[in-house]
Amino acid sequence: MAKGMGFAVVGLGMGGHHCKAVTAAKGARLVAVCDIDTDRLSTFTNQYGCKGYTKWTELLKDREIDAVCVAVESGKHAEFGIDAARAGKHIIMEKPVDITPERVKKLRDVVKRTRVKCGCIFQSRLDNCNILLKKAIDKGKLGKLIGVHGSLPWWRAQDYYSGPHGKWKGTWRLDGGGSLMNQGIHTVDLLQWLAGPVKSVCGFYGVFGHTIEAEDQTVAILKYESGALGTLFTTTCAQPDRDQRLHIYGTKGSFSKLGSALEFFEAGTDADKRYMMDVFGARKSGERTSSDPMAVSSDGHMLIIEDLIKAVRTGRDPVITIESAGHAVEIANAIFKSAKTGREVKISDVRK
Ligand SMILES: NC(=O)c1ccc[n+]([C@@H]2O[C@H](COP(=O)([O-])OP(=O)(O)OC[C@H]3O[C@@H](n4cnc5c(N)ncnc54)[C@H](O)[C@@H]3O)[C@@H](O)[C@H]2O)c1
Repeated sequence: MAKGMGFAVVGLGMGGHHCKAVTAAKGARLVAVCDIDTDRLSTFTNQYGCKGYTKWTELLKDREIDAVCVAVESGKHAEFGIDAARAGKHIIMEKPVDITPERVKKLRDVVKRTRVKCGCIFQSRLDNCNILLKKAIDKGKLGKLIGVHGSLPWWRAQDYYSGPHGKWKGTWRLDGGGSLMNQGIHTVDLLQWLAGPVKSVCGFYGVFGHTIEAEDQTVAILKYESGALGTLFTTTCAQPDRDQRLHIYGTKGSFSKLGSALEFFEAGTDADKRYMMDVFGARKSGERTSSDPMAVSSDGHMLIIEDLIKAVRTGRDPVITIESAGHAVEIANAIFKSAKTGREVKISDVRK
């Protein structure tokens, strides 16, 4: 590891962000990329001057590679992660960890047994505003949480689902759902990370604006272990699309966040309120992920890669473990189960 930890990236759609993030991360170097799509592969080997593999199993034999970023279709994540762990490679796993709690558990068990490190991508947890919001909640500045609401009124054109590399999106087998499991999983994770674990859910979903199998709109009510109640709305049909909105209410304070900016922060001291609004209050956001999936910044990915390197060097856990990233997968599966059965579903009913 003299010249830095050697990374490879498999899956060169979102994997392109991983290449950029690995290149920018301290202590990391991009050794290889891998994709079965040879056009995508040559684009990245040319851009980064690194090795290219079409066969994942060949990449795993490369001794220069210490860690692999997995950015293939979501329903293949655990399978790729397990291969990597068995080959002794550390892992950066794109969201969601996989699409079912069973597969997440299988990956977790193999990672534990093989003693590699696996850092999961939920880049919103590395956002400075979100970190301070979590600190405010954890320090009790909002009092006891009562209402935890997340809304994601996004838009994706039909071509997103039917175009090149789109066919797996919005399917149960490889996407594990649609607007909830793919786009909305960030919101689900952020809500549970801020407000604590979810106890049970009631959900509804349907296909409203696309020709896809699973769902392009989901609505759910969530009961948190803390006793708070919340709502969740995810869609890729909104016209016009809007940014993610979070509303969290407590007995002593509350805040609302639209995209990357706070709409209001009314908790803690006057100085707390002023600071949060001065630093994170409404301003123009550069990101347009509400309609463009590739507009996401790679800064969070870079921090998660740097964190994995520190975890490997010190022996500690990565900041986002499989276990903690897996709760969002449990929540999404419970919502779908509730919608299919017409009853409230406890997280313990889907937990493995
Ligand atoms: N963190 C984020 O904000 C974010 C944003 C978008 C997508 N993602 C995640 O990234 C993952 C990929 O999404 P995408 O939109 O880039 O999908 P995509 O279909 O564009 O890319 C997947 C790539 O994996 C390749 N692939 C599939 N099987 C392979 C194999 N056996 N060997 C080598 N390559 C293989 C495909 O050829 C394709 O190029 C998904 O899990 C998605 O949830 C995360």
